[in-house]
This record gives sequence, structure tokens and C-alpha cells, in this order.
Amino acid sequence: MSGPSLSTCGGQSRVFRAPGRVNLIGEHTDYNDGFVMPAAIDFSTWVTISPRDDRVLSVYSENFREQVDFDLDDAAPRPKRHWSDYVKGVAVTLEQSGYRMRGAQLHIRGNVPLGSGLSSSAAIEVATGYALLENSGFAMDRSELAQLCQRAENDFVGLRCGIMDQFISCHGQKGKALLLDCRSLDYRLLPLSDEACLVICNTMVKHELAGGEYNKRRAECEVGVGHLAERLPGVRALRDVTTADLESHGRDLPELVYRRCRHVISENARVVKAGAALERGDLSDFGRLMDESHRSLRDDYEVSCDELDLMVKLARALPGVYGSRMTGGGFGGCTVNLVASEKVEELKRGVADEYQKATGLAPEIYISNAANGAEEMAAEA
Ligand code: GLA
Repeated sequence: MSGPSLSTCGGQSRVFRAPGRVNLIGEHTDYNDGFVMPAAIDFSTWVTISPRDDRVLSVYSENFREQVDFDLDDAAPRPKRHWSDYVKGVAVTLEQSGYRMRGAQLHIRGNVPLGSGLSSSAAIEVATGYALLENSGFAMDRSELAQLCQRAENDFVGLRCGIMDQFISCHGQKGKALLLDCRSLDYRLLPLSDEACLVICNTMVKHELAGGEYNKRRAECEVGVGHLAERLPGVRALRDVTTADLESHGRDLPELVYRRCRHVISENARVVKAGAALERGDLSDFGRLMDESHRSLRDDYEVSCDELDLMVKLARALPGVYGSRMTGGGFGGCTVNLVASEKVEELKRGVADEYQKATGLAPEIYISNAANGAEEMAAEA
């Protein structure tokens, strides 16, 4: 299945928006060719763009109150571990893929909390990519744009992320979660029930994924795949391995790699079951799978942290909470909770007070509606 194409239309200054996301279930499975179930959220990045006659991109970030200019003809563009790397990375990747860009003025602002596991990076990449393409008169299929932005993050920024964040930022739909097969990029949109809300609790502990523990996890999965592929024909990724396969052919793996593989394999199975639970309207089963996912991320994949575990524990002790888990890359950031609509206020108060008492940090809590993916906004008057 592929989404609608991005089309061109006239005008001098144009505005493009792309959202962040929350992942309901399916963590660290995307780069293992597995399954994920994110939804786009009501937090976005907006890029206002107007063309220039040269080949300079002049970029102003309202959030950082900073201006960066760079030349599209720069022969050796390099990342600087700076917010502008996401913009530059997308521009460089577009050029390398054969799209000759026009120079432009870009004004960027956003309200996706940074470093919170809600994909502020994908939001800026997708909004920038969409704006740059349109500014140069190109149209691109949404799945292709997602893949291009992923390549920018992998090859320029240096995080070997999977496709989930960029994909949902392109394909999100109001009121729907998206069940994605990260190998084929086939997806199904699943309606979210009115009986429950998605509540996102921000631990206010920032994560820094680029280059560090995240890439290490990915490398550990690759060691697992190498070992299992020698024993099991047809294995290309952990997606191709079942729990029974791992038990019979993975026992001589290093213990740590074994646990990493066990998380990914069991998480893939949970996403498939969670999709079925959502389709049956079985929120209790869905919530139970979220709880299991958190335990597996905490114990086997080791990407949680004390603050996330505490946030989950506090939510789990309250009535009306179907399930609670960390969301996104981990090491800080947010939890996602599936909560009966009439119990949301109680959860907000309960979690905020107890969390602050225990940690001294005031958490932010967002009630999230599933939102639409990237779009061009109507011109401002
Ligand atoms: C980050 C990455 C995604 C995905 C998640 C973990 O958000 O960008 O590709 O791997 O972590 O599920």
C-alpha cells in the first residue's frame, strides 16, 4: 500500500507541517525488519519556506533563536552535532539522490518536546524534506520521503534508526494507530477506541540517542542474526526468527545477545497480537501486552531507566489504566498509557504528585489524539 503523492502548487512563501509520534507497541523492532504500532500526535514542526535565486539554504530556528546558512554546493558537508544537522542531512541526501535543490529561506518552529522519545527529529526531517522538494518543484511518494529522511538520519546525523518515526510522520491519520510491517512497508490503520485515551507522561529526563547505546543495541541484534543465520536457512533479520527457534539454536549465543534477541522476537509477536486485540476492541488484552513490552524493554533490552520504571509503576497502581510502557528509543523520555477516558484526570493528578515527590522533577503529561501526518498548511493571510 502506498500513500498519496505530494503535489506541487504555486505561491511564494509556503508552510509545511510534520508531526511527532507516540509508539503504542513495537519498540526496537523496526531496524529488525519487524512490526511497530505508532500514532502521530498533536505536536509538530512547521517549516515556512520561500525560494532564493542562489544555492544557499538560510535556516532560522525559532526554538533555538539561531540562524545557520549553508551552501548546497559545499563539496564536503559534515554534521556538527547541532539542530541544523537534520536540515542539512535531508538537503544533502536529496541532492545525493538526484534532486537538485533550489536555494531557500527556511523558518522553523516546533512544539514536539525535544529529546523526549516523541520524534522531534523525524518531525523536522519530514517537514524540511517536504518543504525543500516542493520549493524545487518536485513531488515524492510519502513512503519514499520517509525512507529518504531515514537515510539522512542514518548516514548524515549518525543514528542508525529504523523507519518507524519518519513513516508515521508521513502517513499518520487522525484517530488511527498504524500497524506497520517494517520490511514490506505495508500498513493497516487501526481505529482507536473512544472508551480510552492515550496519555503520555514525560519523565523530563532527556535522552541522547545519536551514536551511543542505540547503535550498540542495533549491533548486538546483528551479532544475533549472524549466529542464527548460520544455523537456520532463510534468516535475514530477527523478524524471521521465532521464540522456539531462538531456544533451540541460540543457546550458545553470549547471554546478553540472547536477551536482546529475545526482546525483539517476543516484541514482534506482541505487536501482531496487539493489532488483533485492537481490532476486537479488547483493551484489557492490549494493555497486558503493553505491560509485557515494558518488562521486556527493561529486563532484556535494557533501554529503560529508573524514572521510566517509576512512571510505569505509578500509573499501573491507579484504577482505569489498561497498560503502561516506555515509548520510543528509551534511556529517558516518555511513557505511553492506555487509560479509561473517565479516569484520565485521576491518573494525571496521581502520577504527577507521586512522581514529583519521588524525584523532585515536575513531569509534563499530555493527552494525545492520534493526528494526521505531514501536510501543506493553508497560506497565512
Ligand atoms: C527511535 C528510532 C526508531 C525506533 C525507536 C525504538 O525512535 O528513531 O527508529 O527504533 O527508537 O523503537
